[in-house]
Order: sequence, then C-alpha cells, then structure tokens
Amino acid sequence: MEESSKYHVELFPYLQSWGLREFRDEASYYEWQRETLSKEELLNFQRLIEHRYGGDDGKADIEFYDELARGDLIPILYSQRFQYFLTIGTAVCRRIAPAQQVLDFGCGVGILTIFFALQHPDVEFVGIDRSSRSVEMACLEAEKRQIRNVRFEISHVPPQISGTYDLILSTHALFQAEQEPGLPSRTWKTFQRADDLQRQEQLEVLTGIQGRLDSLLWVLGSNGRMIIFEKTWNLGRRIFFQRALDARGLFPISSPVFCRYRSVDEEVVDGPLHEVARLTQGVETLGWNEKPYRAPGETLYRCIGIAADRMGRVLAMDQVSASVSGVHSSIGSWMFRFGLWKEVFAWGLCEHSSGLTGLVIGGEADRDLLHQLVETVTHITESDFQQLVHDFWGDMIHAEEDQSVPCYENHHPSAQIIYERLPSKHIQQESTFQDGEKGEMHIELGTTTHLTYLYFANIFDQRQLVLMDEERVQVLSEYYRESLQHPHGPPA
Ligand SMILES: C[S@@+](CC[C@H](N)C(=O)[O-])C[C@H]1O[C@@H](n2cnc3c(N)ncnc32)[C@H](O)[C@@H]1O
Repeated sequence: MEESSKYHVELFPYLQSWGLREFRDEASYYEWQRETLSKEELLNFQRLIEHRYGGDDGKADIEFYDELARGDLIPILYSQRFQYFLTIGTAVCRRIAPAQQVLDFGCGVGILTIFFALQHPDVEFVGIDRSSRSVEMACLEAEKRQIRNVRFEISHVPPQISGTYDLILSTHALFQAEQEPGLPSRTWKTFQRADDLQRQEQLEVLTGIQGRLDSLLWVLGSNGRMIIFEKTWNLGRRIFFQRALDARGLFPISSPVFCRYRSVDEEVVDGPLHEVARLTQGVETLGWNEKPYRAPGETLYRCIGIAADRMGRVLAMDQVSASVSGVHSSIGSWMFRFGLWKEVFAWGLCEHSSGLTGLVIGGEADRDLLHQLVETVTHITESDFQQLVHDFWGDMIHAEEDQSVPCYENHHPSAQIIYERLPSKHIQQESTFQDGEKGEMHIELGTTTHLTYLYFANIFDQRQLVLMDEERVQVLSEYYRESLQHPHGPPA
C-alpha cells in the first residue's frame, strides 16, 4: 500500500473517534447541527463566527477558539473540515520523516498533532496555540489516548517559543486574515508584481506574519524544514506569502502541492502545501514561482444548441483537422469534427441526427486533451459513444435553450492568454477605473474574427472572457453597460 493512502485510511476512523462525521450535502449537515445543539447554542455559535471576523489583535479569534474547544462543539465545527483533515493530514504526515523534533504551530485542539504523533511514535511533537482552552482539550485528548510523544503548550506567538526543532508545521495558522488580498499586480494587463518592499513590509506587519515567522525561525534548527499550508490560492496572497518566506532565506525543497477537498458540498482549492528550508550546503532548493497556477482542463468550455451551432460554424471556417462519422443503432448517424481556430482554440463538434449539436472548445494549454478526444472518437464503440456524449453534454441536454449562453467563457487567469491571442481584435468600447477595494479594473467590448468578446480584468488576478456570435452582440453590450453601472466584478 502506498504511504499516502495508508495515512488516509487510518485518518478516517481517527477523525470519527473525535465525533467528526463526513457530510456530502449541506442539508444533512445543518439538520444534524439543529439536532445536536439547542437554539441558543446555535445562535451563540453563529455569533462567535461573525464576531471572529471583526478583525483586531486576535482577541476575537482567541475567544472564538476558546469557546469552541468543547467536546460537544468540536464535532459540529470540524465535521465541515472532515475532507480538509483527510487531505492535509495525509499530505503532511507523509513528509514528517526524517524529523525527530516537530513543532506544530497553531495546533488548535490537537486533532492533527495527535494523529501525527500516533503515526510517528519515535518522533517528539510539541503543539502550541494561543487559545488556552484548545490546549487544555488537546492535553486531555492526548492523555485519554495515552500518547506519550506529544505535549501541548499555551503560547501566543510572537514572541514566546523555546527549544529547537528540525521540523515546524503550520496548517491554516500563520496567515489567517482571510479578507487580505495580498499584493496587487502592476496593472490589469499582467500578473506580475512590482518589487515593492515597503508594501510587503506593511502587509507583513498588518497580517502579523512578520512577528510569527521571525519567532518560528528563531527555533528552527539550521538544517530544519517547515511544512506550511495556508489559504494562499489567490495569487496576490500567494506571492505576498512566498516573498515573506523568501526574505527570510526560505526556499522550496519540493514542488508546492495544491490541494482540492470538499467542505461539506463545496469544492475548495487551497494551499499550496510548501516544504521549505534555508539555503544551506547540501540542500537542493527550487525557485519561487510567481505565475498563476492552471488546473488541467481549466480552459475547456462546453455548450450545446444555438451557441454550439453558431460557434461551430465560425470555428469550421478555419482548419478542420479531422472528421469522424458513424451510425448508432438508437441515436442514428453522427459526425464529430475537430479543428484548430487561429492558433487560439482547439475544438471538437459533435452533431447527430437526433438534432444534438455539442461543442467542446479549449485554449492552447488544453490542446492535448482535445487531441486525446480525437483518438478516442476514432476508435469508439457504440456504447462508449453514448457514454462520451453523456459525459460531455449530458447535464445540458434537458435545460431550456437560453439565448444568453456564451459561445465560449473562461473565468480563470488563463483567459488572459486567450484574450491576448484573439485575431483581428478591434476594441469598440473600453473603460479602466478604480473598483473600490478591488483596485484597478478594466472592461472591454470588442470584435474578433466573426465574434464579439467581452473582457474583464483587475489587479487581483480576476479575469473573465466571454465570446458571442455576431447575431447575439446585444447580450454582451448589455453586460458591458451593466458592469459599468455596477462595477463589482464581472456578471456571473
Ligand atoms: C484554523 S485553526 C487551525 C488548527 C490546526 N492547525 C488545523 O489545521 O486544523 C488556527 C489555530 O491557530 C491558532 N493561532 C492563530 N494565531 C496564533 C498565534 N499568533 N499564536 C498561537 N496560535 C495561533 C488559533 O488559536 C487556532 O487554534
């Protein structure tokens, strides 16, 4: 069995031993909350959550964790994080060796720390947290489970930490300040950040990262490592945090790992998990990457009906590189065409005699996925064909035809490359302005070969590109007008 899955398997019943349950839908989670807590307790729970984000020197945060460190509330609060614990606990646990002395900063009630100690009985663990009740609970749990290689201490960092550790862990503890977007890019046109040391320092002070990191580094042995997992999926936060590590001579020693998990029924992308060390002899380090990460398939877009039909016609005016057809015993005849459009898009268009037209389209970054699709369709069997159509367009087939469905849409940073490559681009209207706390924002309406586009971009890496056929220009002009009247990001 692979090491990672061994931890994963053992973590599941361990989490259950804390009373945690895995929920896959919100309704059952909230029903369980209502069954378990009285009305007053629920209101108090809600009040603590809101109060916590009041933002101050940490007092509200300490009160939040102190009040929630109770046997009856832990399962309620942390069942939402069941998948988080599984994913992060597994990823951290397999990276602990060869450490001997491990510090878990911001250990909370010790759910993960105790699991790590159980899995690595020859390693000494110390968990520290500023919430005294959380630490009390962690001590009681370790005692109850008779685990001797872990101890817990109350410590509000900075400054109080003593000892020397060859591994320091921090999971969702170093960089909380969730409203803080981090460093903005130079302009809406780029993801690059200026080397603004003053702004970096201000933010480090404001978020408390400066004091926390400096205190932790004080107790990190010269050849020690840190494993850090924080909410830095947004590029502005990630670059700010990476620069704080870089400024202290810490560099990645393995590739950062992004993690996806569910929080009840919501898909969360989080991290990355950084494994860092000081630049010392014999340690191979990697550089910091300040570019946006791109998930495989991120540029892909699917549509059916009018949107697919009209976009299909535009795309087929350029290169059609393959055409595969067949007859299916129940659907009738079908044809799949594939092609490239102006070196911007790769696409596949499926038409069958039942009347379905389905389009899948992707940018340069996902061209390989579309090449694989050509291969699959060329050698497809009858039952696999039906499954493939279902996998691509099945969820759309019964929806009512909607005139405003775009011919292509991309909400990710990868939209920028596609926007930059659009051929014969002609801007019809554009506006660049300050969008409140989101900073500089740009909206642009224009035409490209046989299509109209709308593009949004701001200095905190939000991007959105929407393409429509010429017959539905009106929809985009409306969006453009609305967005200028209510400039709070692109319409959903
Ligand atoms: C979101 S919880 C994370 C707990 C645990 N690491 C996990 O992954 O589940 C954050 C914890 O960090 C602690 N914490 C935040 N800032 C701290 C500081 N400056 N010093 C000590 N503990 C801190 C909080 O009290 C809280 O228990």
